[in-house]
Formats: sequence, structure tokens, C-alpha cells
Amino acid sequence: MAFVTHQIVRTMSSVSAKKLLVQHVTVIGGGLMGSGIAQTAAATGHSVVLVDQTEDILAKSVKGIEDSLKRVAKKKFADKPEAAADFIKKTMSNIKTSTDPASVVHSTDLVIEAIIENMQAKHELFKTLDTFAPEQTIFASNTSSLSITEIANSTTRQDRFGGLHFFNPVPVMKLVEVVQTPMTSRKTFDALIDFSRAMGKQPVSCKDTPGFIVNRLLVPYMMEAIRLHEQGHGSKEDIDVAMKLGAGYPMGPFELVDYVGLDTTKFIIDGWHELEPNNPLFAPSEMLNKLVESGKLGKKTGEGFYKYN
Ligand code: CAA
Ligand code: NAD
Repeated sequence: MAFVTHQIVRTMSSVSAKKLLVQHVTVIGGGLMGSGIAQTAAATGHSVVLVDQTEDILAKSVKGIEDSLKRVAKKKFADKPEAAADFIKKTMSNIKTSTDPASVVHSTDLVIEAIIENMQAKHELFKTLDTFAPEQTIFASNTSSLSITEIANSTTRQDRFGGLHFFNPVPVMKLVEVVQTPMTSRKTFDALIDFSRAMGKQPVSCKDTPGFIVNRLLVPYMMEAIRLHEQGHGSKEDIDVAMKLGAGYPMGPFELVDYVGLDTTKFIIDGWHELEPNNPLFAPSEMLNKLVESGKLGKKTGEGFYKYN
């Protein structure tokens, strides 16, 4: 399909010979994360192209962005409906969509990949993009658990490649983990830090280790909750209530797995189990596998550990 028309403007500009300013962003994958990243980048004045595999998926992404923007605007402009409407209109006008990544990256400063958590799929995508994107374009992956170095190996631009790990829901969660590999250049890293701040986020610097900081702690915790329940030590409802009221977490672990996506959680744990089969923190769960097999992927499909309207 055609790139939904808008005039392509070269936006890669140098603040100085050493600094890169990101203005035009291509987000690949319009699911939970890609939609949130596109929305937040657009709301902070960036020009965004959101890419996914079909027009139907993109229509759903755009609808999700509009709904989320309404929630943001309601809070941000509580007593100013006109300002709220203007904010939504302006943000939406910063977002274009496409199903053809190769045709849109020729004018982009930064590509953020947020497709499924699968190394082969990410390799295929980046290999193609590498041949179409300009030399100076930075590539970043939003992967939850895969090695950024290994993803970057599918390209010829390892120095212009890093991790930008956002959190769900992106419009609300303030953190971005900026991941540098041994090959990531200082200029690239600085541009990713600056871009995170320009999106209103707080960046933290991470090494390219499995799960970076947050997921290395959070995913084993969610898996241990599932194992606790699987072994009959507590109902999912009680475990969720216990962690909310006893530890002050905004969601219990089962609510959180449903929110993150059971498929994504399974991709993460299976990958780590393969890397370290004897590490009990990375042990897979039969219960999780069965739910994924039956298509119960969490809130996004209407059912995971819980049912949703
Ligand atoms: N878009 C815009 N605003 C949103 C939103 C969204 N998708 N979701 C929530 N909000 C905002 C709204 O302002 C909302 O107010 P309204 O209801 O008036 O619209 C406000 O947040 C509060 O939301 P809710 O009342 O619906 O519920 P809540 O108080 O429980 O907050 C939450 C929701 C912010 C998601 C909170 O439950 C939370 O922080 N949960 C934990 C999320 C978390 O841990 N995320 C990290 C997951 S791990 C990850 O992302 C990494 C990975 O690689 C897997
Ligand atoms: P999702 O399933 O909601 O969305 C993935 C989207 O990518 C789908 O819309 C799919 O159609 C699209 N897609 C798949 N292959 C594609 C391709 N080759 N080209 C274009 N689009 C393609 O997944 P998600 O939860 O948004 O996760 C996306 C990435 O972000 C994963 O790497 C995941 O590990 C990571 N992540 C997820 C979370 C989370 O809480 N879910 C948080 C942080 C990071």
C-alpha cells in the first residue's frame, strides 16, 4: 500500500557537528508499544510515521491512539475543552501511517522497532531497512529481552544502533532505558538520551544485558507469581491483592502479565531459558504456555488470566 501522503521533509539536522537532533521518527509495529511510542513522540512535536503489516491493524492503532489522547487531554486540559481538542488535533496531524517500511525510512532521523519479540523477525526487518535508510539514520529496538548487539548485527550500522526500551502504557510511564552496546557510538547514545528527554521521559543508561534493569527484576517476579499459583500456594486474586496492598504495587502480577501480554511474557522467558536452562528464575510455566496456546494473550485479546470486556 502507499505511504499515506504527506510531504517528506529532510529533518535530520545538526545542532552542532557533533549533535544529532531527532525530529522525524519511524515507529515499526503499531501494537501496544508502537502505538504508545508514536502517540507520545507526536504529542511532543515530532513528526511520526507508524508502520504495521495491514491497514486494518493500523486503523486499530490509530483508534487506540485517539482514545488514549482523550484520556491524556482530559487530565492535561481539565477545564479547557478547546485546548484539549486542539492538542488532540495537533498530535494526530503529526502521525502518518504506512504498511511499507522501505518507502518511508528514506527521510527519517530515527527508526524505533516495536514488532513481535522474535530475533528472526527483527533481523529480517532491520536488514531490509538498512538498505533503504540514509547513512545517518539511527536504528533503535524497543525489545524487552533480546540482545541489542545481536539485533544490530543484521545491519551495517552497529555504531548507529541502540536500545530504546519504553514501558507500558507509554503515555503514562516516565522511564526509558537507553541501551548501549559496545559498538554504539557516543553520538548515537547522546541523541537517544536527548530524544527520550524531548519525549518528556526520564532516561536511564543500560548495558546490553538480558532484561536491562527493569525486566531483569520484573519478569522473574511475574513468573514466580505464576509458579506460586501453579503449585497451589495461592489464588491469582489473592496474590494480586497481596502485592497491591502489601507491597504497594499499582497492579498485581497477574493483572500485570495480562497488561504486558502473555505472548510477550512467554517470548521473554523462553528466550532467557534457552540462554540459561539451569537458572530457576528463567524456568518456563506450563500454565502460561497453555494460555498462550489457546490464544488467551491478556487484555489485548479480551482474556488472559482474567476476562475483560
Ligand atoms: N493512555 C493514556 N492515559 C492513560 C492510559 C493510557 N493507555 N492508561 C492510564 N492512563 C492514565 C489516565 O490519565 C488515567 O486516568 P483516566 O482514568 O481519567 O483516563 C490514569 O492513568 C489512571 O488510570 P486508571 O484509573 O485506568 O488505572 P490506574 O490508576 O491503575 O493506572 C496504570 C493505570 C498507570 C497502568 C497503573 O495501573 C500502573 O502503573 N500499572 C503498572 C504498569 C507497569 O508496571 N508497567 C510496566 C510493564 S513492564 C514493561 O512495560 C516492560 C516490558 O518490556 C514488558
Ligand atoms: P504487540 O503484539 O501488541 O504488537 C506488535 C505489532 O507488531 C503488531 O501490531 C504486529 O502486527 C506488528 N508486526 C509484527 N511483525 C511486523 C513487521 N515485520 N513489520 C511491521 N509490523 C509488524 O506487541 P507489543 O507488546 O507492542 O511489543 C512490541 C515490542 O515491544 C516487543 O519487542 C516487546 O518485547 C516490546 N515491549 C513490550 C512491552 C509490553 O508491555 N507489552 C513493554 C516494553 C517493550
